[in-house]
Amino acid sequence: MNEVQKVIRDRRSHRKYTDEPLLPDQISALVEAAKATPTGMNAQAFHFTFVTDVDLIKKVEAAACEYIRQTGDQARIERMKGRNWKIFYDAPLCVFISADPNARWAQIDSGIAVQNLALEAESLGLGSVIIGMIEAAFKADKKEELEKLLRFPDGYEFAIAIGIGHPADEKQPHDLKPDRFSFVG
Ligand SMILES: Cc1cc2nc3c(=O)[nH]c(=O)nc-3n(C[C@H](O)[C@H](O)[C@H](O)COP(=O)(O)O)c2cc1C
Repeated sequence: MNEVQKVIRDRRSHRKYTDEPLLPDQISALVEAAKATPTGMNAQAFHFTFVTDVDLIKKVEAAACEYIRQTGDQARIERMKGRNWKIFYDAPLCVFISADPNARWAQIDSGIAVQNLALEAESLGLGSVIIGMIEAAFKADKKEELEKLLRFPDGYEFAIAIGIGHPADEKQPHDLKPDRFSFVG
């Protein structure tokens, strides 16, 4: 197996991290991986916010948790309790990808970008977890304040996020659902 194949197959979602911060070179490599993202019609209608400010990460998490509590959605609340109300699992770097909601491919582009980041992290010996749940923060009262603090460009909306750090858990590959492939011809 070549290195790229190995990185693709070895990536897992990590939900526990050490408190070791990332090095500037590691963050620079992740920025380059984000830049390498292909986008529909090369529109690049997205934006990356790299956050290492723990207080800011906690603030965004708190807003999401508050919103989730307010929904009264018990299944979701129980799931969050099981995760100690942690959304980024103390990852020392969180990257927020925001996108132009009117750009045709921006959501897909953001998905490709987040996987680029996950694979780059894996290749650097780091771990990651893609985070959609934090979307709740941008439905709450603090939406505008948070978008400003995270420097989303005007009119851009949260698309997806990722936590990256030194993993402190072991993770098995996810089960593959067998009906997800067809081969024709
Ligand atoms: C779009 C997307 C959103 C996700 N959101 C979350 C999330 O909010 N919290 C979380 O713990 N994992 C989240 N995950 C991780 C998935 O749960 C994980 O990829 C899946 O269980 C397969 O496990 P693996 O990544 O270890 O292969 C998300 C993954 C994707 C692709």
